[in-house]
Amino acid sequence: MTLEPELQKFSLTTPLYYVNDVPHIGSAYTTIAADALARSKRLQGVSVILVTGTDEHGQKIQRTAAARGLAPQVHCDEIAASFVQLWRELDIQYDRFSRTTNPRHAAIVKEFFQRVWEQGDIYLSHQQGWYCVPCEEFKEERELLADHHCPIHTNKAAEWRDEENYFFRLSKYQAQLEELYASEPDFIQPESRRKEVLNFVAQGLSDFSISRINLDWGFPIPKDSNHTIYVWFDALLAYVTGLLAPEDEPTLENALAKWYPFDLHLIGKDILRFHAVYWQAMLISAGLPTSKKVFGHGFLTKNGQKMGKSLGNTVDPFALVSKYGADAIRYYFLKEIEFGKDGDFNENRFIDILNADLANDLGNLLNRSSGMVHKYFQGIVPEINLTDITPENPLREIGIGLSDRAIAHYNSLAFSHACHEILALIRAGNKYIDDQAPWKLYKQGSTEALNLVLYSVLESVRLSAYLLSPIIPNISSQIYQQLGFNIDFNNSSQIEDILKFSVHTTWGTLPSGQTLLTPQPVFQKLESI
Ligand code: MSP
Repeated sequence: MTLEPELQKFSLTTPLYYVNDVPHIGSAYTTIAADALARSKRLQGVSVILVTGTDEHGQKIQRTAAARGLAPQVHCDEIAASFVQLWRELDIQYDRFSRTTNPRHAAIVKEFFQRVWEQGDIYLSHQQGWYCVPCEEFKEERELLADHHCPIHTNKAAEWRDEENYFFRLSKYQAQLEELYASEPDFIQPESRRKEVLNFVAQGLSDFSISRINLDWGFPIPKDSNHTIYVWFDALLAYVTGLLAPEDEPTLENALAKWYPFDLHLIGKDILRFHAVYWQAMLISAGLPTSKKVFGHGFLTKNGQKMGKSLGNTVDPFALVSKYGADAIRYYFLKEIEFGKDGDFNENRFIDILNADLANDLGNLLNRSSGMVHKYFQGIVPEINLTDITPENPLREIGIGLSDRAIAHYNSLAFSHACHEILALIRAGNKYIDDQAPWKLYKQGSTEALNLVLYSVLESVRLSAYLLSPIIPNISSQIYQQLGFNIDFNNSSQIEDILKFSVHTTWGTLPSGQTLLTPQPVFQKLESI
C-alpha cells in the first residue's frame, strides 16, 4: 500500500482528563480507541503523534483538593500519576502527556492569549447565569432540569453567578465556522453529532466568558491578574503544548512546527461544542488553521446512566485490568460498542464475548491448527506453492482483501466493523477445519491437500492476529511468537522494521518451513460470575 505524502503524518488527541478523581472506565474508553487508531495508522507506515494528558485547573479541581485538605498541585500530581499508570496498564502508546499545570504550558497560553487579544477578540463585560461546576460551563436556563440541576450531573445543582468576566468574541466567527462545516462535511463525526452542532450554531453564537474571578487555581489573565483564565480556554491550548518535543523551547512557533494542524480530536459527545465550535473559533482568531476532524463518541452507561466521577457510578478500570488483562478490556469496548453510540457495560456480557471470540474462536483456531502441524509435521509450516491455494479456497477468498477492508474500517473509526471482518476469517478457519477434516487427509496420505489446508488455516490465524494487533496487541504478539516470528506489537521500532522488510498485510506472508512454538492457550477461558 503506497501512501500520498500528505497522508503520512497524523496527529490525534484524547481529551485532557479532569483530575477531580482517579480515572474511571469512561476515561479509559476514549484513550483505548485513540490508541487503537494510532496503532492502526502506524501499521500503515504513518508517523503518528498521540497527545493525551490531564486538565488540572479550575473550580472543580480546586474544590476537590480543598476537600481532601491538600494543596491543589499535590492533589493534581497524585491523580495525574494514576492516569499515567492506567495508560501503562492498558498498553496505551501515547507520545505526549500534556498537563495543564506544566510551566511550559503557561508560556503557550500567554502567547496565544496575546494573539487573540491583538485581534480585538477579548473584552471585559458582565456575566450572569447558571454555572455547572462539574461541567465547568455556563448553562442556559432551558438546558437545566428542575431545581437547576444539569442533566449530566443530576446530583449537583448549577450555581448562580453574577460577575465581571473577560469575553471571547465568538459571535464574530459565526460565518467562518459555518463555512468550515459546509466546506468540510466530515469535520464533525458521526453525522448525528454534526447535525447537533449545526443546529446549535444556527441558533446564533454568543460570546463566551473566558475568565473567572474568585478563583486562583489557574493562569492569571495577562492584563488583569484579578481574573483567572477559564479552565476550558487553558485546557484546549494544552493540546498545542502537547505538540512540543521535550527539548523544544515552549513557543507557539515550535509547537506548531511539525504536527499542526490536528488531524483528529477524539472526544465524548458531551464536549463536542467546545471542540467543534469554541476551539475552532479560537484557532481562527489566533490566525491558525482549524482542526481536520472532531469525532464525538457515545457514553458508557451503567444501568442506562452515564458513568461518571461526579455521579459516582463508575467501574474501576484498575480492578478490571488486574482481573481480565488489558486486551480483554480493549477488545470488549471496541468490538461490542459501535463507536459513536452509547453502550452499556455489563460484566456477564463482557465474559461471554471474550470467551466466544478470543478463547473459542481465535484461541482454538491457533491451537487446533498449530497442534496438527506439530503432530503431522514436527511443527514446521508445510511447504506449499501459494498459487496452489485456488480462488475457491474460502479462507483465501476472505483473506485476500481483508487488510484493505479492515484498515478502511480502522481509518473511519469503525472498530467494531474491523473486528467483525476479521472474525469472519477466524470463524471460516474453524469451519474449514471441520469441513476438510485434516486428520482424514493425513490418514489417507493426501499430503499435498493436507499441506494446503493447514497452511491456509495458519495463515488465516496470522493475518487475523496482525490485523487485530491495534486492539489486542498482547494476544497478537503471543500468536505471532507461536507462529515463529520474533515480533512484539508493543514494540514500535519492531513495527517499523516489519513495514520496511515485509508485507504482513498480504495474504500468504507466513513462510513455509518456519518452525512453530508449542501451542499455548493465548486467552484463558473466563469463569461466569
Ligand atoms: N477536561 C475536559 C476535557 C478537556 S479537553 C481539552 C473533560 N474532562 S472529563 O474527564 O470530564 O472527560 C473527559 C472525557 O471522558 C470526555 O470526552 C467525556 O466524554 C469522557 N467520558 C466521561 N465519562 C464517560 C463515560 N461514561 N463514557 C464515555 N466517555 C466518558 O471533559
